[in-house]
Amino acid sequence: MKIALGSDHAGFELKEDLRAYLTERQVAFLDLGTFSEAPVDYPDVAAKVAEKVCRGEVARGLLICGTGIGMSIVANRFAGVRAALCHDIYTARISREHNDANILALGGRLIGKGLAREILKTWLETEFQGGRHERRVQKISALGEKPGCGGQQPGGGR
Ligand code: RB5
Repeated sequence: MKIALGSDHAGFELKEDLRAYLTERQVAFLDLGTFSEAPVDYPDVAAKVAEKVCRGEVARGLLICGTGIGMSIVANRFAGVRAALCHDIYTARISREHNDANILALGGRLIGKGLAREILKTWLETEFQGGRHERRVQKISALGEKPGCGGQQPGGGR
């Protein structure tokens, strides 16, 4: 299984640690940046990783920003991407068993490296359960792009 990695400046330090963890565990990865603590915009990095998952060029993705929120919002705009923001072991496990999450989003400013490694380990090792969850995941895919709100932007747009 190959994983695409990405972070902004706020997630850079944690990405580097998890990259070392993946190397130690001999998990193949593709690091799509960022490569320093110089500020970058999280949508740019999230899009690079989500595209790889969307096209099936990698099996999974890992995205890290300050909170993980921006990364997960962006990634979930890509067809076939199911990004889960997890800060504990339980949600990491369930995001795989029930939601077949293919991108893990983490907040580099929220959790320590030890917990992040445990979350990633659980997320990588847990299989999708299928069964009733398969039907539900298929319903997510079937939604596709919904115009919603009669073409209006939520909150009046910006
Ligand atoms: C960067 O300051 C911060 O906004 C970003 O890393 C992330 O937390 C966004 O969701």
